[in-house]
Amino acid sequence: MYDARISSLQAAVPALQVLTDPTDLAHYGVDWTRRWTPAPLAIALPADVAQVQAVMRWAHAQGVAVVPSGGRTGLSGGAVAANGELVLSLQRMNKVLGFDAVDRLLTVQAGAALETVHEAARTHGLQYPVDFAARGSCTIGGNIATNAGGIRVVRYGNTREWVAGVKLVTGTGELLDLNRGLVKNSSGYDLRHLAVASEGTLGVIVEATLRLAEPAPATRVMLLALPSFDVLMQVFQALRERLGLEAFEFFTDRALHHVVAHGAQPPFDTAYPFYVVAEFASEGEAGEVALLSAFEHCVEQGWVEDGVISHGDTQAAQLWRLREGITESLAPYVPYKNDVSVRVSAMPAFLAETQALLAAEYPQFDVVWFGHIGDGNLHINVLKPEAMANPDFVIECERVTKLLAATLERHGGSISAEHGIGLVKKPYLRSTRSDAEIAVMRGIKAALDPAGILNPGKLFDP
Ligand code: FAD
Ligand code: MLT
Ligand code: ZN
Repeated sequence: MYDARISSLQAAVPALQVLTDPTDLAHYGVDWTRRWTPAPLAIALPADVAQVQAVMRWAHAQGVAVVPSGGRTGLSGGAVAANGELVLSLQRMNKVLGFDAVDRLLTVQAGAALETVHEAARTHGLQYPVDFAARGSCTIGGNIATNAGGIRVVRYGNTREWVAGVKLVTGTGELLDLNRGLVKNSSGYDLRHLAVASEGTLGVIVEATLRLAEPAPATRVMLLALPSFDVLMQVFQALRERLGLEAFEFFTDRALHHVVAHGAQPPFDTAYPFYVVAEFASEGEAGEVALLSAFEHCVEQGWVEDGVISHGDTQAAQLWRLREGITESLAPYVPYKNDVSVRVSAMPAFLAETQALLAAEYPQFDVVWFGHIGDGNLHINVLKPEAMANPDFVIECERVTKLLAATLERHGGSISAEHGIGLVKKPYLRSTRSDAEIAVMRGIKAALDPAGILNPGKLFDP
């Protein structure tokens, strides 16, 4: 249906590329959650910062809701446009703008893919250490807006650690150039960090200046088979003490089942209940000796029942596929995702309680556990039984997520470790944030987006 607001937008920003074809609306209106029916007003594809500003000035004046959009790999519904919003996609603003060797800073447009940043860093003999399976499709803007974590947080931290500067277009079209790559800057509030985990509700990230790290060391990957959940954190501590830990991830037999059904090679002849994929800095013979001795220690303690240590990049990639392929292998089931965190020290008690809770509440569901256990971050995915209608499934899962949120509250945890609150976890925000905190968050939003047009209904209700 023709909407006069589209011609008004085109008149206000004549050079802007605008898509209104139903196929495009369906394509750009969803993220990986696939839970909402896409219904955007139109898709705006700005070519530069000036166009983003012009779109935001227009949207502010017209009171049109805008959904900032990156690679739409988000898992919390943050980039969903299901209520006639204008999707503002950064897809065309995807270039590397420059590198400074003295500062070790890389400046990119926000629509650059994470993988583009990895490649640019490598070209300069350095690394950008935030990494996860969506690297080819997710964008730096989306990574900053969700404070993306991934598989190397245990060693390098979240996206937040690597953001040295952000250019942000506010809800009124103002361009803020935040921190400008400075290492030290105590000149008041660090507004750059407001952009991190803002989920498109405070501004459109148009450019980022990213810190790069020393090149990654030579590493080896280990796959371990564990008899129980109880020993997981003991293995983590033992390996962290003995080896240079670069990653420490876990998954269950159900996760392995789905990845293998999706084409991965089964690693062992026998099935075990739990697995760890870990990566370690390891060079030469001394590295090999340290790896073997740490592995033997875990076996002697009865914590590990079997294991594989990678020899070469191909085998390392095969082992990683068992962990990194989980999300894709579960996608056809449109799983209900929980992405929770507690302090690492609280993990054993939280795990025991959560396991008992889920066994009691989800006996009929296929529940798949995996995640970044070394960061205290668990992904608990519930798959819909074939015979169950989708609305019933969601109601059932939300009931259990409420119980999970209450458990997290007791353990001082968070209902979203790294995926964001978006639409999916909005009802549970108060399990993690106090009313006073949420009031401050609303105040910050009002300052940057006085008309409330930036991603309304995400994170909290307008
Ligand atoms: P989108 O999905 O497009 O958007 C996400 C949010 O950011 C939305 O609220 C959107 O409005 C906002 N946004 C996007 N771009 C901008 C911008 N330029 N300015 C302002 N706001 C913006 N996440 C992890 O943290 N760790 C993982 O290990 C991980 N693994 C994944 C594996 C797979 C296979 C998949 C599909 C997803 C995974 N994710 C993971 C989730 C997802 O990839 C991340 O949340 C990622 O940061 C989203 O980036 P995006 O560009 O796709 O953002
Ligand atoms: C992961 O760790 O694989 C991601 O966060 C994606 C997911 O939770 O499915
Ligand atoms: Zn994750």
